[in-house]
Amino acid sequence: MSAIRPIIIDTDPGIDDAMAIAVALAAPELEVVALTTVFGNHSIEVTTANAQRILDALGDVDTPVVRGASGPLVRAPHDPATLVHGDDGLGDAGHPPPSRPPLDRRNAAQHLVDTVLDRPGSVTLVAIGPLTNLALALHLEPAIATAVAGVVMMGGAATVAGNVTPAAEANIWNDPEAADIVFGAGWPLTMIGLDVTHQVFAGRAWLDSVAQLGTPSADLVTATAPAYVRFHTETDGLDGMHCHDVAAIADVLRPDLFETEPMHVRVATQGFAAGDTIATNRRVPSDENWDARPLVDVALGVDAGAVLGLVRDHLAR
Ligand code: RIB
Ligand code: CA
Repeated sequence: MSAIRPIIIDTDPGIDDAMAIAVALAAPELEVVALTTVFGNHSIEVTTANAQRILDALGDVDTPVVRGASGPLVRAPHDPATLVHGDDGLGDAGHPPPSRPPLDRRNAAQHLVDTVLDRPGSVTLVAIGPLTNLALALHLEPAIATAVAGVVMMGGAATVAGNVTPAAEANIWNDPEAADIVFGAGWPLTMIGLDVTHQVFAGRAWLDSVAQLGTPSADLVTATAPAYVRFHTETDGLDGMHCHDVAAIADVLRPDLFETEPMHVRVATQGFAAGDTIATNRRVPSDENWDARPLVDVALGVDAGAVLGLVRDHLAR
């Protein structure tokens, strides 16, 4: 029996965040130590309330919710993505207000540092929103870069276009400076970007099969999905939804379902390409902006069918 792996999910719920959190909590091999929240899909007030509303919907009374950054490191926050995730950030599906306030008065960055240093070599950080909290945690205590078991983040687009601008994927676009710090920290990091999450597409048949499961997590996905599907239909004529965030959880559970390549990644922070994740597998000794950059594992391939099967199996529990 493999050891139970502690993870912290740093999240901006968010409809696809809800699916990811539900799958992680259903996985017996994972200990979800906390949900740390960050602005992004919505304001920090809403994303923090939504983290609790998700736990309430799942009947989870133990997992701490720890409030994090209300905005990017150095720039003003963008408007909430209500066109994508609804006015309440969870698809306006009528979920009741949170049953309790955040359980931990520390901020998310301090909680990340304390948890990682209390359990050196054990904790995996799963970031499925803007990377502000992780950048702040590195600033608070750089030693977490060598104490963490690993970082798996949903975000970026190495070989495909962005989903907010032609260059930028949403989580990176929301805080490019934080992302460039996180990609440069030298910790073991896996980037689950649009290169693979655009392949993990839940179509109508899959969604209908989940609706038949009758579990709290399947009901949460079924209730929140319509708003997300409507966004995909209106923008791309698709009858379904990209399962971005849960792909990061799938990588934690089954990294064998992903093909990765070690690459140096930098993030553009200025102008119309801000949020672009520029990746190369070549060393660039001629330019100090690149020469000292650590390698990260960039996911370029995925067994999308197997990931969707894993997700549905966990939603059925
Ligand atoms: O680009 C997709 C990412 O942006 C997901 O994390 C989604 O929740 C939004 O935050
Ligand atoms: Ca998210």
